[in-house]
Amino acid sequence: MKIADRIKNLPPYVFATVEARIAAKKAAGVDVISLGIGSPDLPAPRPIIDAMYQEALKPNTHGYAGYYGTAQLRNAICTYYGKRFGVELDPESEVRPLIGSKEGLANMALAFVDPGDIVLASDPGYPTYRMGAVMAGGDFYAVPLLEENNWLPVLEDVPSDIAARATMLWLNYPNNPTGVGAPLDFMQRAVDFCREYDIVLCYDNPYCDLVFDGYVAPSILQIPDAKDVAVEFNSLSKTYNMAGWRVGMAVGNAQAIDALTTIKTNVDSGIFLPLQAAAAVALTGDQSWIAERNLIYQRRRDIILDWLPRLGMSAQPPQGGLYVWARVPAGVDCEAYAIEMLDKAGVWLTPGTAFGEYGDGFLRLSVCVPDERLIEAGERLSSV
Ligand SMILES: Cc1ncc(COP(=O)(O)O)c(C=O)c1O
Repeated sequence: MKIADRIKNLPPYVFATVEARIAAKKAAGVDVISLGIGSPDLPAPRPIIDAMYQEALKPNTHGYAGYYGTAQLRNAICTYYGKRFGVELDPESEVRPLIGSKEGLANMALAFVDPGDIVLASDPGYPTYRMGAVMAGGDFYAVPLLEENNWLPVLEDVPSDIAARATMLWLNYPNNPTGVGAPLDFMQRAVDFCREYDIVLCYDNPYCDLVFDGYVAPSILQIPDAKDVAVEFNSLSKTYNMAGWRVGMAVGNAQAIDALTTIKTNVDSGIFLPLQAAAAVALTGDQSWIAERNLIYQRRRDIILDWLPRLGMSAQPPQGGLYVWARVPAGVDCEAYAIEMLDKAGVWLTPGTAFGEYGDGFLRLSVCVPDERLIEAGERLSSV
C-alpha cells in the first residue's frame, strides 16, 4: 500500500491525538476534567430539536438533499445576516451551507491554492488553515499574533514577495485561541490589503455570538465593499450549541462561493434535510436565550481567571470565544506542563503550540465545562 506523500506533511489532527490520550486515561480509571476543546456542553434549544424531529418523521426527507442547500436555509442565513449585521446577501449566489464550517475551511484551500501558492494565516491559529494549505499542495506563511499588537496580525509586515504569491488570507475574530475581537479599522485594512494583492479574504467568524461583557462582534461583510474580496465562514456549532449537528455556512463574494461549491459538489452530497430545516429555525427563531447562555460561559471564564494566578499564570479576560488564553510562568514548557497536569491532576489543558509556534508559552482553557468541575480543576491543578 502506498500512502500519498501528502500524509507525511500532514501531522495527525492535534485534537484527535489528544482525544486518544484522554480516552486512555479514562480507560485507566482517571476522572479526567478536559478543558481541551470548545465543544458546547449545553444542548440546542428545544424548538430546534423539535424541528429536526418533525422533519425526520416525514417520509420524503431522507434522500439526498441537493448540493446548494435548501432555499429555506439559504433564506434563513440571509435573514440572520440582515438582522444581526445589517448585511444583505443574495441567497442564490452569495450563500452556501456547509457540513460544519471546518469542511468549508479545508475545501476553500482546494478551490484557491495551486502548488507554489501561499496561504497567509495567523499564528497562533485554528490548525485547519495551515492543513488546508498543505492538503492543496501550497505553502503556508504564518503571520504572528503578538500581545503587544493586541493579538492582531501586522499585515504591513508581510514581505511583498510573499503577499504577491498569496492567494488566501485567513482571519478569525473573536479569535481562537486568544479571545480578542478585531476593531473595524483593522478589518478595513485587511480588506484593503487583500484588494491590493488580489487575495481572497477568508474571515472565520464562528464565535461572533459568543461574546462577553457587552462586546458585539462584527462581520467582515460590514466593511464597505468587502464582498469584492471576502468570504465569511460561520457556524451553528457554537452559537446554537449544535457542534455535533454539523451545519455551517460560507457567505460573501459570489465568485469565491462558486469556486468553493465546485469543490463541494464533487466531494459531498449536501446536508440531511431535517438538519437544514432545524438550522433555519435556529437562525430565524428567538435569539434572546443566546445572551443568557453567554452569561454562563462568562461566569465560567471568571472562575478560571480567578484561579489562574494561584498557578502562577495570567490571562486577559477574553472578549469572545470559548477559551481563556493563559500565559504560563517564564521558563515553563507549555507542552510538558500540559502532560504533567494530565498525569498528576487528571486535568487536560491545551498547550499553545497546538495552534502554532507563536502559541509557545501559553495554554488554552475551554469554558465548555460546568462551574463545579471548573472549580475542581483549579483545586486539583493548584495542589500538584
Ligand atoms: C476558529 C474556528 N473555526 C472553525 C471551527 C470549526 O467549527 P465547525 O466545523 O464546528 O463549524 C472551529 C471549531 O472549534 C474554530 O475554533
